[in-house]
Amino acid sequence: MSTSPLLAEKIVAAIRSVVGTRPAVLHEPSFSGNEWQYLKECLDSTFVSSVGKFVDRFEVELAAFTGAKHAVAVVNGTAALHIALKLAGVKADDEVLIPALTFAATANAVTYCGATPHLIDSDVRNLGVDAAKLREYLRNRTDQRLGQCVNRATGRIIRALVPMHTFGHPVDLDGVLSVASDFNLALVEDAAESLGSYYHGKHTGTFGKLGTLSFNGNKTITTGGGGAILTNDAELAVRAKHLTTTAKVPHAWEYRHDEVGYNYRMPNLNAALGCAQLEKLPDMLSSKRALFERYHAAFSQVPGVELVKEPEQCRSNYWLQALLLDVAQSDQRDLILKATNDAGLMTRPVWILMHELTPFKDSQRMDLSGALSLAQRLINIPSSAGLVPVGP
Ligand SMILES: Cc1ncc(COP(=O)(O)O)c(C=O)c1O
Repeated sequence: MSTSPLLAEKIVAAIRSVVGTRPAVLHEPSFSGNEWQYLKECLDSTFVSSVGKFVDRFEVELAAFTGAKHAVAVVNGTAALHIALKLAGVKADDEVLIPALTFAATANAVTYCGATPHLIDSDVRNLGVDAAKLREYLRNRTDQRLGQCVNRATGRIIRALVPMHTFGHPVDLDGVLSVASDFNLALVEDAAESLGSYYHGKHTGTFGKLGTLSFNGNKTITTGGGGAILTNDAELAVRAKHLTTTAKVPHAWEYRHDEVGYNYRMPNLNAALGCAQLEKLPDMLSSKRALFERYHAAFSQVPGVELVKEPEQCRSNYWLQALLLDVAQSDQRDLILKATNDAGLMTRPVWILMHELTPFKDSQRMDLSGALSLAQRLINIPSSAGLVPVGP
């Protein structure tokens, strides 16, 4: 305990040595490209809503950037997850495996399908699904019946597995893919945080049947609010577009909807912002990597804490920089949060784990010791690309 004020002070000093003396928020967007021009073009065209050239262009450019065959732009990352899960076959009364350590949207989207989240543990090395532990758990707790994975305790089908790339750090996708294949689980990647992150050279969000992105205001690039569904399957892409555009059958004047659809299409106005942001994405990723290098140098002088680094053979977008306290320092977390925020440096703990949230407290879950340890020790620090500007 006696070292605690010192550790908090050292952390404040290390962050200050990188960001300077001004206050720093956790993550702010930057609009240094063609944002004003494209927004004006969009307004001038009067096509501000769900039809327009920027939506189509954003989808094409997003697919090109990620290497996904298809991208469908939607209103936000939560809606993207909802539709991706539906298209992966998730139905009422199913269970879906999601990390306990995630943002509530992952669990909410499962619930929108009438299914229930089944919470799994995280690997402290990559902050994502612990594939080896999950394999062991499923081996002991599930049966395969007619090619479906059935939870012995509840009798319900476990339909899908949703890994999430925390703060942009790719999970062990080889491990996760092999669990999904061996246990007959549809894989839907929640890549909300990992635009610009690669696992073994391939973009995250493109490994599963479907993947999803978010362009919320706090993400690496933003469309104000927005999201996208990625898939390599042409049929699923058509279904995604149909479902997210009220399931209206194309026709010059007739309003025929052939199933219950959703008004989830991204407006053209938001896509205009997105097109400008995508042009700046390579610069933003360079800035975030440069920020990581600076923090890394600063924190190598601070015992008791390490800066989270991209997993081996992965390239992270470093969306949110994170400190991981040594186990012996975990009781210092709140002191450090207070000292940094008091100093005008916005820091945050990771999300409250899903089983500790009222709506999900009764969820099925495995031993969550990895996630619990991470939740006690992770602290996000100022991460905006604008802290280390790169490019024109
Ligand atoms: C892990 C994760 N999943 C899903 C979402 C949902 O995205 P949105 O806020 O665009 O609905 C977010 C971000 O907000 C997220 O961080």
